Amino acid sequence: MKQVVAGNWKMNVTATEAEAFAAAFEPQGLGAELLLFPTALAFGALARAVAGRGIEVGVQNIHWESSGAFTGEISAEQAAAAGASHALIGHSERRHLFGETDEEVGRKVSAALRAGLTPVVCVGETLDERKAGRVDEVITRQIDAVLGMVSAETRWRIAYEPVWAIGTGETATPDDATAAHRTLRTRLVERLGGGAAQAVPILYGGSVKPGNAAELLAAPEVDGVLVGGASLDPASFRAIAEAAG
Ligand code: PGA
Repeated sequence: MKQVVAGNWKMNVTATEAEAFAAAFEPQGLGAELLLFPTALAFGALARAVAGRGIEVGVQNIHWESSGAFTGEISAEQAAAAGASHALIGHSERRHLFGETDEEVGRKVSAALRAGLTPVVCVGETLDERKAGRVDEVITRQIDAVLGMVSAETRWRIAYEPVWAIGTGETATPDDATAAHRTLRTRLVERLGGGAAQAVPILYGGSVKPGNAAELLAAPEVDGVLVGGASLDPASFRAIAEAAG
């Protein structure tokens, strides 16, 4: 399968800046599946600017209801109608800064699938959880919360993002990434069967940069990367994508 190189722009990049990114970013010759997650306000501008250029655009968060009195929220149906193909769900900033629970993450995965979006489900342990030897327990609990929502046929992705590596400059070693991805893959095999488990790309995220992307992307079980800070610059996003197969 093609590796996935995804950029999460978080609360950065205006619509005008998104257009400038699209003008400067050259997807020609890249073999990876390319995916960008702008803010909702830059979404339309970016989607128009990259249309037909082999880059897909997704949203960073959705609500689980399809419409209604939920001020400030965006539904999966609205995202799909605007041209989104993917939705990030359960990013650690949503979980830790905004109190999103495993149960809410599960509901959002159902909503994304209902609307035809491909969910990118983020999981990952905190530093305290890692130090306490609880990595496998935490990420298994997080992935179990969504496994009831998917079947062997579901198109979805997982991003393993250790919380201590996000935006800190600390990166998991390729061995750390492989170990966590193996834990997740084993769970997928148990719940979905071997063939279906292999078809779910598991991305690594957390301080991925041009300088470390190649070794992370070459690690066993790493099917792509989810990039925050380094995805804001078209040249560094391109350099990371060049490291993907
Ligand atoms: P970072 O963010 O690359 O800036 O560490 C990754 C993410 O939060 O997806």
